[in-house]
Amino acid sequence: METRGLTIRFGGHVAVNAVSCAFRAGELTCIVGPNGAGKTTYFNLISGQLPASAGQILLGGEDVTRLPVPEKTRRGIGRAFQLTSLFPNLTVFENVRLAVQARLHLGLDLFSVWSHHRKVREQAEACLERVALADKRHQPVAALPHGDQRKLEVGILLALQPRVFMFDEPTAGMSVDEVPVILDLIHEIKQDRSKTVLLVEHKMDVVRSLADRIIVLHNGTLMADGDPAEVIASPIVQQAYLGVAPPDGAGAGNAEASHG
Ligand SMILES: Nc1ncnc2c1ncn2[C@@H]1O[C@H](COP(=O)(O)OP(=O)(O)O)[C@@H](O)[C@H]1O
Ligand SMILES: [Mg+2]
Repeated sequence: METRGLTIRFGGHVAVNAVSCAFRAGELTCIVGPNGAGKTTYFNLISGQLPASAGQILLGGEDVTRLPVPEKTRRGIGRAFQLTSLFPNLTVFENVRLAVQARLHLGLDLFSVWSHHRKVREQAEACLERVALADKRHQPVAALPHGDQRKLEVGILLALQPRVFMFDEPTAGMSVDEVPVILDLIHEIKQDRSKTVLLVEHKMDVVRSLADRIIVLHNGTLMADGDPAEVIASPIVQQAYLGVAPPDGAGAGNAEASHG
């Protein structure tokens, strides 16, 4: 998946400014940058939630820039669903089942409706297991604590079996015991060499443990791109993003981006 000169303007404000970047299968790229840098907006452009003002999005060499969200999803661009787009009165299981069904339905063979039905159920169950929500399968989504709702987002993403996984601060708002479930899962997805993973994350320990590559966005612009150790060590990142004082400056650095 690749973006070329991808840009969006809101009035006079350029939230994503001519970002050109190619993401390979089998590679996990962390996207870092301070609040308001344009990380979420970049994802919204790729997934189609926002229309580009300029530039292109390519998937497998094909221009998918103007395709509507469902078509991009069908082609394998997977954005964790916003919970607002889920069905709060349906159960956890039903929500995942609908995602599995939406994907399988495309190739539905009418002569095997029953096996299809069973396959849908089994796949939905497997997704729930992987995000540790199996024991809450019968709860309505609206009744879930925040951390479980975030896990469900990931469960639904799994159900869609995308080629490109986009995680936007997937563990934000989770309790400490829930975080490893999601991080282990992302680590697992990354082992699949056919998957491309994009992860917006501000916790630097998580970035260090998962990233094959880091890109830095700042004011909508791609500021750095490369090997994690090099990018983290680069002066531009140390100063502009991590808030670490220049070498001769006073005071200890802040290991995390300002956030909040
Ligand atoms: N729909 C929108 N309308 C106007 N401005 C927006 C919209 N979405 C994002 N922005 C602006 O774009 C900039 C980037 O925001 P965002 O992508 O959410 O940053 P990040 O995810 O890196 O914290 C911010 O200045 C934000 O206010
Ligand atoms: Mg954001």
